[in-house]
Parts: sequence; C-alpha cells; structure tokens
Amino acid sequence: MTMQEKISELLKLRETARMGGGEKRIAKQHSQGKFTARERILMFLDEGSFEEFDMFVTHRCTNFGMEKEKYLSDGVVTGYGTVEGRLVFVYSQDFTTFGGSLSETVSNKICKVLDQAMKMGAPVVGFNDSGGARIQEGVNSLAGYSEIFQRNILASGVIPQISAIFGPCAGGAVYSPALTDFIMMVKNTSYMFVTGPKVVKTVTNEDVTVEDLGGATVHASKSGVAHFAVDNEEIGITQIRKLLSFVPSNNMEEPPFKATQDPINRLEDSLNQIIPDNPNKPYDVKDVILSIVDDADFFEIHENYAKNIVVGFARFNGMSVGIVANQPKYLAGVLDINSSRKGARFIRFCDAFNISLVTLVDVPGFLPGTQQEYGALILHGAKLMYAYGEATVPKVTVILRKNYGGAYCVMSSKHLRGDINYAWPTAEIAVMGEKGAVEILMGKEIAAIEDKEKQAEYILEKETEYRGAFANPYIAARYGYIDDVIEPRNTRFRVSRALESLKNKRLENPAKKHDNLPL
Ligand code: HXC
Repeated sequence: MTMQEKISELLKLRETARMGGGEKRIAKQHSQGKFTARERILMFLDEGSFEEFDMFVTHRCTNFGMEKEKYLSDGVVTGYGTVEGRLVFVYSQDFTTFGGSLSETVSNKICKVLDQAMKMGAPVVGFNDSGGARIQEGVNSLAGYSEIFQRNILASGVIPQISAIFGPCAGGAVYSPALTDFIMMVKNTSYMFVTGPKVVKTVTNEDVTVEDLGGATVHASKSGVAHFAVDNEEIGITQIRKLLSFVPSNNMEEPPFKATQDPINRLEDSLNQIIPDNPNKPYDVKDVILSIVDDADFFEIHENYAKNIVVGFARFNGMSVGIVANQPKYLAGVLDINSSRKGARFIRFCDAFNISLVTLVDVPGFLPGTQQEYGALILHGAKLMYAYGEATVPKVTVILRKNYGGAYCVMSSKHLRGDINYAWPTAEIAVMGEKGAVEILMGKEIAAIEDKEKQAEYILEKETEYRGAFANPYIAARYGYIDDVIEPRNTRFRVSRALESLKNKRLENPAKKHDNLPL
C-alpha cells in the first residue's frame, strides 16, 4: 500500500468508527429524542477540542457468535477536550453498539479515561446510556464494572466526577454514577434503578412503570439520587458546562474566578423589609440569595428535593462559593432526614474542592415524630453537623431569623469552627421557641389557672416575656458567638469582605486514615 492508501484506510476506519452500530440504530436513537454518544460529546466540549482515545478498540468475546459482530469503538466513545478552555475528560456510552452494554473492553476504555484524568487532575464527565452488563461476556463484564467503581472511589474528592444519565442505567450499573459527585437525568428518556419493574412485580407484587420507579422526576424529588432533572439533553449539557464553571479541576486547585461588574458594596434595601413581623410567616430565602450574590446568578442543586434546605453555587466578588440556606417557605425550614443528607453531601463536596461556604440560617429546629426518629434522624442530623465541623474551607454564616436548639449548633455555628458569623437584628437564638419554652417552664402555673381565657392571657404574657428576653441576637453577641449584628441591606458587602479576609485561611484536621462519618 502506498502512503496515500494507508492514510485513506485510516480515514475510512475513522469514518466506520464514527458510525457506531450503524445508520439504522442511529436513526432509532434519534427517533427516541436522544443524541448519539459522539453528538453528546461534541455538543458538550468546546468546538473542535475533542481528542478521541481508542477508536479502534473492538471486543474480544467469542461467546454466542460474538466474534462475527464487531464495531470499532465497542460501545463507548472516550477522550478529552475543553470546557471554557479547561481540560475535561469524557466518556459517552454508545447505545447503538450492543445497547451501550459494558464489555471488558468498554470498561478498559472508561478506566483509561479515569486514570488519565487522575494523573492530570481534571474532571470526568460520563454520559450513561446503556443496557448494563454485556450479557455475552458474563463475569468479565462484572469485573469491568468493578474496575470502574474502584476508580470512582479513589477519584472521589480528588477530581470532580459528573454523571449524565441520558438513557437506561439499571442494575449494578447505577453504582458508578452513585459514586460520583453529581447526577443529572433527562425527563422521560432516562431511568435508574437497581431492579426493573418486572423484577419488582415478581418480588413485591407492585405494579410500577419505568418512569415511576426510576425516572428523572422521581430521583430528583423523592429519592434525591439525581441532583438535576432536565427537560432535554441540550439543556442538560449546558447545565453541566455551567456546573463546571464553579468548581476547580481538582482538590489542589482553587475554583475558577469570574470577574463581575456587580459592586460588592451594593446595598439591597429590600432586605431590610424581607422578614415578616409575624415570626410564623414565611418568606423565600432564594430572594435573599439572589439579592446578595454576584449578578443574581445562583446555580441551584437538588432544586426539587428536600426543599426545606436550599443548596447551590454562586459567587461573591468573583469567588465561587457554596450556599446552604434553610428555606422557611417549605416546612418552615425545619431540618429533617432528607434536608440533613442533602446539606451534608453538598458541604462535603465544597470542602473537598476548596469552595468556601456561605450559610444563611432560619431554622426552627429538627423535625419531631416517629417517622423521622425511626428513619434515624439522629444519624442524618449528625451527618450535617459532621460535614460542617470537619470542613476547613472558609465558612461565613448569617443568621436571618430563627436559630433554635440543636439546629443552632449544627448550622455552621462558631462552635463548629464557623469563621465569621453574623446575625441580622431579626435573629432569634435560643434553646427553643417561646411556645415550647413556656409550656415546659410554666406548665404547672398554667394548669393551675382554671379560667380558660385567663389561662390564654397568662400564656401569651409569658410567651411575650420569653420572646423579649431570648428572641434576639444580642445574647449570643454578648458572648462573642456571633461576630456582629449587621443591617440586612449590607449583607452582600459584609459577606464579600468576610470571604476576602478568609482567602488565605489555613486549617488542618488531625491526621487519620479516614474519618468515621455517621452513616
Ligand atoms: C448485550 C444488549 C444488552 C446487554 C441491550 N443489548 N442490552 N446487548 N448486553 N446488556 C442490545 C440488544 O440486544 C439490541 O441489539 C440493542 O442492544 C438495543 O436493545 P433493544 O432491546 O433493542 O433496545 P430497547 O428496546 O430500547 O431496550 C433497551 C433495554 C433492553 C431496556 C436496555 O435492551 C434491555 O432490557 N436490555 C437488557 C438489560 C439487562 O438486563 N442488562 C443486564 C443488567 S444486570 P441489536 O443488535 O438488536 O441492536 C447488570 C449488572 C451490572 O447490568 C452489575 C455491575 C456490578
């Protein structure tokens, strides 16, 4: 062969590889509202930046006549490129080739990407769209999955790992995404479950659809497995690009800086009116977040799960921060099992990747009840406390209103190494609210009053007295548990300055093999 012929052969092979499982299967993929593996990568990475690995890999299986059916690339497209100029590694399962199922060679390709990403300290984004273990390969496929899991585990906390579920993801296959930092699902075209509807029917006799068992909406609102549920793949891809803009490439780097025209000393007068006079009236903490962060740009995570706590990324004066805020609009912002898990997971991500934490507090306490106690609220609440207490990144806290009981300790208090803790004049910091306190302290006196009207008057009087004495920030301020009481409209300025002052914070936890987080 002449050199020209050899080059033509290469180009032809490349063309064949790019066709995956062939035109028919690509058309089927498109007809289901799904893009192909390569299309997803090309949409995701900066234009012209994709460098592909292992295009010529084929499987080695000879069971069930498999030696007669081979496709270049074998079920996954892998490589690297850039997102806003920053290096990112990718793999994208190709449903058109053996249903994107995982063979030994598919695993080798994914592992190569994970290993390379670890060497380079760059994020990995995986597009999942697969029928699971390649049935013809038996245990070799299971071994392949396990090799991926092991790498996901070792990469955790070193490089950001993001899983996009853009098709089926079932059985043990779900555990690779579960080991990564963020999971995104597309509504109606993706699902995740350990066992599908048929097995569910056999074992528990439940009738359930694929969507109701493991669709995007279910995982983004009920189970919390998915951090994002998007309407289509394009939106999902844009969201992942945005997510990456807030996070560093690895745990040794600072998050990217994004310059802003939004002045740090911008006063937000609306905040001086946002807390209702009635302490039981809600407001939307997202209004507070949007008015204090750069350019009202808040990237929310787990938007529809455990809405009583709000978490997400934003920036102050160009610096990326993780925001954690109790949401009085849902369940009065109470801490329960789900909100504790949601908060803890997010805080640990931020701490692992040098992202400062800004906490906005308005919490009446932990949710009472058998359901919560039987579900181990104690352990889940402890997770949130643990996450705050072990975090060494800068921690700035603003108490907006209620901060009662154990929730006071948990929510990034001074005592859990909060660096700068502010309170609005509307803050109420005490062991419990006035109702509970008066009931416990004055129970006997209340019971002794026979006249119901007089009793109610007495309760009200005592509650007012208690509120007067405790429902303020000045007692905590007297002890230095908060550093200052600030005017709400100054919050952006004060938080920005606090973060600026903490830029060179150095704090290390005691050396240990690893911690023993309550699980
Ligand atoms: C080999 C597979 C496959 C698999 C699909 N295909 N799944 N090949 N191994 N696991 C092939 C099909 O034969 C078909 O080939 C093509 O992919 C597309 O599949 P269809 O069934 O035509 O597509 P669709 O109707 O969209 O259904 C998708 C599906 C279904 C729901 C995912 O394919 C399915 O149920 N697959 C099996 C799922 C499964 O049980 N996997 C093992 C789970 S156990 P042709 O040639 O026709 O295009 C597991 C354990 C992991 O994963 C453990 C890790 C620790």
